[in-house]
Amino acid sequence: MSLEKIWLSSPHMGGKELDFIHSAFDENWIAPLGPNVIGFEKDLEEYLGDKSVAVLSSGTAALHLSLILAGVERDDFVLCQSMTFSASANPITYCGANPIFIDSEPETWNICPLALKQAIDFAIANHKKPKAVIVVHLYGMPAKMQEIKTICDTYNITLIEDAAEALGSSYANQACGTFGDFGILSFNGNKIITTSGGGALVCKDRATKERSIFLATQARDVAPHYQHSEIGYNYRLSNISAGIGRGQMLVLEEHIAARRKMNEFYRELFKNCSGVEVLKEPTEDYYSNHWLSAIVIDSTKTKGNWDKEELRLALEKENIESRPLWKPMHLQPVFKDAPFVGKTVASDLFATGLCLPSGSNLTDADKLRIAAVIKKFL
Ligand SMILES: Cc1ncc(COP(=O)(O)O)c(C=O)c1O
Repeated sequence: MSLEKIWLSSPHMGGKELDFIHSAFDENWIAPLGPNVIGFEKDLEEYLGDKSVAVLSSGTAALHLSLILAGVERDDFVLCQSMTFSASANPITYCGANPIFIDSEPETWNICPLALKQAIDFAIANHKKPKAVIVVHLYGMPAKMQEIKTICDTYNITLIEDAAEALGSSYANQACGTFGDFGILSFNGNKIITTSGGGALVCKDRATKERSIFLATQARDVAPHYQHSEIGYNYRLSNISAGIGRGQMLVLEEHIAARRKMNEFYRELFKNCSGVEVLKEPTEDYYSNHWLSAIVIDSTKTKGNWDKEELRLALEKENIESRPLWKPMHLQPVFKDAPFVGKTVASDLFATGLCLPSGSNLTDADKLRIAAVIKKFL
């Protein structure tokens, strides 16, 4: 009999989610919108502080709307972190715009401020000032926000923060998702909290939130009949999904604590293992929710020169999921013609890195199993 699968990151319900869903049924708020949508937005606004939040059908939808609200149009250029999931970049093409991908820096694995500045200078020299910058807080690790924000402010370029993986992370005591002109969150099934599918757009003010909701609900003009002067989208979160979100907000802090414990667990496990580094906060300014714990392996320094694929296969054999780091966008066939600025930090991370099981619902028995397989492998 094979052992039960240990997942990289699986949904973790707190127990109160069904209460919110039941109240939606009791009140017949099955249609989109309703008290759970309003309540979930209020919870997120209180959590993030001084922001207006619109809950949407996905993080991808939130990114798309942020680009539209930033005024991104056909043939514009948008600078985007290369080391990320494709959902960070795809919405650029939905707008008919062109991505320019930027390398990472080695400390946080996020967008490199030096390469970002170089790319902006190059684009301006070619009379094509970029319309927006998309920075990602990969695996929950905050990017170098002070430097990135200073660059965007200096050049007056819209900053969009992809905090899909970083709810609960902060930089210099400020929540990830609240630095940019826009922030986006994801409540996809594998995220730190989930609504089965869903996302949010974090806006600077109420007027921008209202505008995003207008676009997310088919851009209906004020009229008794259906009238439209603009193209709209069907991007709002349902009242049922928002009910799950309200329940999940009650356990967010517990989830963060559990994922941070998983990171400590791996740091301890690989403590004396030459050639292995666990991603950790570079200084005290950084606070990661450690959505996923990840390692990079220098196989020239490991015992017997093992590499990430050998470890991945050893875990897979024992029904434990692990996964290579995101394959950078500039190496993806679909973006093969897009420009890239930087060196080999992102491609080296992809070649040597592995994400390890990090869920907040992993039990002590799961941890023992993971530790036993890794120790045997080492
Ligand atoms: C970095 C990043 N950006 C964007 C997304 C898109 O979010 P969603 O799946 O909610 O559309 C995800 C996750 O799926 C992600 O990890």
